[in-house]
Amino acid sequence: MIRFRKVFKSFRADSLALKDASFHIAKGEFAFLTGHSGAGKSTVLRLVYVDQLPTSGEVRVSGFNTTRMRHRDVPKLRRRLGIVFQDFRLLEDRTAEENVAFALEVTGVRRSIIAPKVMRVLTQVGLAAKAGAYPRELSGGEQQRVAIARALVNDPLVLLADEPTGNLDERATRGVFQLLRDINANGTAVLMATHDLSLVRSVSHRTIELQDGAIVYDSAIDDGEAGAVVR
Ligand SMILES: Nc1ncnc2c1ncn2[C@@H]1O[C@H](COP(=O)(O)OP(=O)(O)O)[C@@H](O)[C@H]1O
Ligand SMILES: [Mg+2]
Repeated sequence: MIRFRKVFKSFRADSLALKDASFHIAKGEFAFLTGHSGAGKSTVLRLVYVDQLPTSGEVRVSGFNTTRMRHRDVPKLRRRLGIVFQDFRLLEDRTAEENVAFALEVTGVRRSIIAPKVMRVLTQVGLAAKAGAYPRELSGGEQQRVAIARALVNDPLVLLADEPTGNLDERATRGVFQLLRDINANGTAVLMATHDLSLVRSVSHRTIELQDGAIVYDSAIDDGEAGAVVR
């Protein structure tokens, strides 16, 4: 469903944000992207949601080759993706419910089906009771749940999460992480960038580790085949 083939990305002439990255994420999979700050995790996600194009190599997402696709197909592809960020990115002047509804309104969904869909995802993330609250009235963990509800409302194939627990305390981190796992158990693929190794080690999900733009470990590949990366 997501396939990188020999992907290089450079933002400046003298450095590479991504070096020869190849991997495949299957439908329904849960995969971590790990690595230190600056390793290239966000760059991988930005290439997936076509915020960036590879300098060379191929990025395929849900049947589209992002370099070759038509410009007008980009919104169509993005609608198949849900995206959440470390800093939530909610609209401050809209309630939880309105933030989620907005993601449907921009796609031209009929008004009559917006409200029930919004309540369904708010219930799924455990926030139905706070539908009318503004972001400033919610804790960090609750704001991230709203952002996750917004990402889910279009029934995405994959949820992309860039350090989704980076601004949360331990307890909220556990809650949001469990929610992402529940969403995955319901069939949505999750690709989660995190440098929180305690989370990564608490489960046995697929793990792709980046170091200075290169994939140095992929748990889907036998260590021997991967070129004997010692961790
Ligand atoms: N828009 C950009 N312009 C220039 N350099 C960038 C840009 N985005 C990322 N980089 C560089 O690419 C490398 C990888 O960054 P990033 O993917 O954000 O890493 P991570 O998310 O793992 O912290 C870093 O060296 C970063 O400085
Ligand atoms: Mg990042």
